[in-house]
Amino acid sequence: MISFNNEKTFGFISKDKVAAYETAVKNAQETLEKGTGQGSDFLGWLHLPSSITSAELADIKATAKVLRDNCEVVVVAGIGGSYLGARAAIEALSDSFTWLHDKKADPIIIYAGNNISEDYLYELTTYLKGRRFGVINISKSGTTTETALAFRLLKKQCEDQRGKEMARKVIVAITDARKGAARITADQEGYKSYVIPDNVGGRFSVLTPVGLLPIAVAGFDIDQLIAGAVEMEKACGADVPFDKNPAAIYAATRNELHANGKQIEILVNFCPKLHYVSEWWKQLFGESEGKENKGIYPASVDFTTDLHSMGQWIQEGERIIFETVVSVDQVNHELRVPADEANLDGLNYLAGKRVDEVNKMAELGTQLAHVEGGVPNMRVVMPRLDEFCVGNLFYFFERACGISGYLLGVNPFNQPGVEAYKKNMFALLNKPGYEEASKAIQAKL
Ligand code: PA5
Repeated sequence: MISFNNEKTFGFISKDKVAAYETAVKNAQETLEKGTGQGSDFLGWLHLPSSITSAELADIKATAKVLRDNCEVVVVAGIGGSYLGARAAIEALSDSFTWLHDKKADPIIIYAGNNISEDYLYELTTYLKGRRFGVINISKSGTTTETALAFRLLKKQCEDQRGKEMARKVIVAITDARKGAARITADQEGYKSYVIPDNVGGRFSVLTPVGLLPIAVAGFDIDQLIAGAVEMEKACGADVPFDKNPAAIYAATRNELHANGKQIEILVNFCPKLHYVSEWWKQLFGESEGKENKGIYPASVDFTTDLHSMGQWIQEGERIIFETVVSVDQVNHELRVPADEANLDGLNYLAGKRVDEVNKMAELGTQLAHVEGGVPNMRVVMPRLDEFCVGNLFYFFERACGISGYLLGVNPFNQPGVEAYKKNMFALLNKPGYEEASKAIQAKL
């Protein structure tokens, strides 16, 4: 099971002050469990791990098999909560060079519908030419422009290349039960489809088919992922005492740091495979807490890469930051530094050592330097990078986010701010129904 440590924050905030959050956290946990707080229509994620049935998991695995048997490439079309969780897990668990392997055991998973770049879509559709590809079209609303636009292109290409009958087999929709264009298309075309429950918001949906289907298509064990999430659901539950509850302590500590002037939390990894875990985490906390002029700004870095860029700012810039490091205890492979007779690079002092030992010393050295430089440091340690621990991590952060949002005094489950750009874009594009907004925006230009 993952573990959490906040010892290296106590030079900056007091242990007693963090402990004093116990009652507020208890209230937040009760508010979540009883559904009595703001956004209580969106608490379906709370017990997803323990409530998903083996029949539901078997159905997802069966659909994954159809896609795996019939596709060399599967495009996951979705944006925000409708793709980041799947990508986070798939990239964390995949071989870094899976693309380049000659013999691929699993379909290649690529992503679309998360931007409106013409070059991206041109290059994507060019890459897919002549390839046996399928599509997982994910959109809770079923109307998101980025995803709908990509899906329109992909559907046509899939039908043109593979024929209508095969396209019907290798296109899967994950969307609302009743409304939205994605639902209407799926029903009309007869696609296999899954429902995103009404009470699960996008950024909390990774443990529904939204995340589970792409992860299973990529060849990973979703039973283990769910088992890991179940373990964390227990470890972070409302009945677990504050000082034993990792999500409670994390939520309390980050709020106390914030109360002491730390405005930015940086999620740190020392393993590039975790890059998209950070992207998922940023959305989770950013959309949940950044409202009503409140919120800790969630940022991320990949170390040691970014120590050579952002490291300077973190060490010596304005002291408004704290770090949360996601550390992997045991790596999956062994590689030792070779000895070299000439030793021109001066690295013989490392000869025979595991590369991971070097990385771990970089991690420790960075922690010491940053703490000394005024950056409080928390650690989430994953025993291994596998499905179980990724499941642990997802639920840990979700639970902590729910608690933390309530501690901050916001509704963690809405995202009213994301509508502003959409409204302007639709007005600028003269979308039917936006006539008045079009006139108003033109007058501003
Ligand atoms: O968390 C959220 O609600 C958002 O990030 C959505 O997931 C994102 O905007 C995509 O929306 P939809 O799934 O409706 O296409």
